[in-house]
Amino acid sequence: MISLAHNALYHWYAQNGRHTLPWRITTDPYSIYVSEIMLQQTQVKTVLEKFYFPFLERFPTLNDLAHADVDDVLKMWEGLGYYTRARNLHAAARQCNGILPTNANDLIKLPGIGQSTAHAISAFAYRESLPILDANVKRILHRYFAVKERNENKLWEYAYKLFDPSTPFDYNQAMMDVGATICTPKKPLCACCPFERWCQGKSSPLEYPMAKTKTQKPIRLRTIIVYQRENSYALTQRRTRFLSGLWGFYESEELADESLKYLGEVTQHYSHFTLQANVYLNKESILPEGFEWFDLDEIKKLSLSRADHKVIAQIVGDQKTYHH
Ligand code: ADE
Repeated sequence: MISLAHNALYHWYAQNGRHTLPWRITTDPYSIYVSEIMLQQTQVKTVLEKFYFPFLERFPTLNDLAHADVDDVLKMWEGLGYYTRARNLHAAARQCNGILPTNANDLIKLPGIGQSTAHAISAFAYRESLPILDANVKRILHRYFAVKERNENKLWEYAYKLFDPSTPFDYNQAMMDVGATICTPKKPLCACCPFERWCQGKSSPLEYPMAKTKTQKPIRLRTIIVYQRENSYALTQRRTRFLSGLWGFYESEELADESLKYLGEVTQHYSHFTLQANVYLNKESILPEGFEWFDLDEIKKLSLSRADHKVIAQIVGDQKTYHH
């Protein structure tokens, strides 16, 4: 049965697969590694259009990355989010002295590389015979085997059960494409699916996997104060766990002094909370501790969070209203 399903999968993939994705054409393990890290929490379109090529141009080899300053790596990651990925990529490059391990067992020892990513890199770069288990593949397996329960260990067993060890590259790439284009979360196109004949969940695909109980994301209310002196603004480089390494404006949980000029509100959704900040301008004070002055041109060279970019837009907007 499985080999018939595999044939159906490859037939479908030959006609419908995304064969021209640059990380599927290259044989360079480092480029494949970079693509897998970028694609962990970001859509193909975003990675492809804005981040993959500039990153590889700036850091063409793992050795270049190992010798780069982490601030430069974060700058190339700016806007991509989940910045721990960039810090781990850089740390991993240093840890292996610029030479990427050639099997999943050693790849998984590097920071930022979990089991599925290790399998993906190794299957794509070295044709190691291992299945992947990312969110798309998980959904296919839940439906194919009619498994409601979300259990990572059990899913790995199913991943191996459906796997075709003879062609790890095509199998895994094809699975990703079926997951991304056919076996979608909300409106799966079962009639077009290569697994349709064997899928045990096809009569009610939306029941697999069982729905997550939605917990409301908490809202973090914050005050952002833009300290300004002539054309310069006060920024600090974060050493906190969250957004570590990125530069940002003064932020606190306290309400701002009523005398400060109100610039507006900034909202930013993160994976675990929503930031909602009121932004104020302070032109009178001295530089807070740990902060440095930068003009707008200098700020462009730093790596800032999306929320802080929105603050910049407010400052620029404010200047325009002020001058005209
Ligand atoms: N997401 C993670 N790895 C991918 C790949 N190789 N192709 C398309 N999407 C992916």
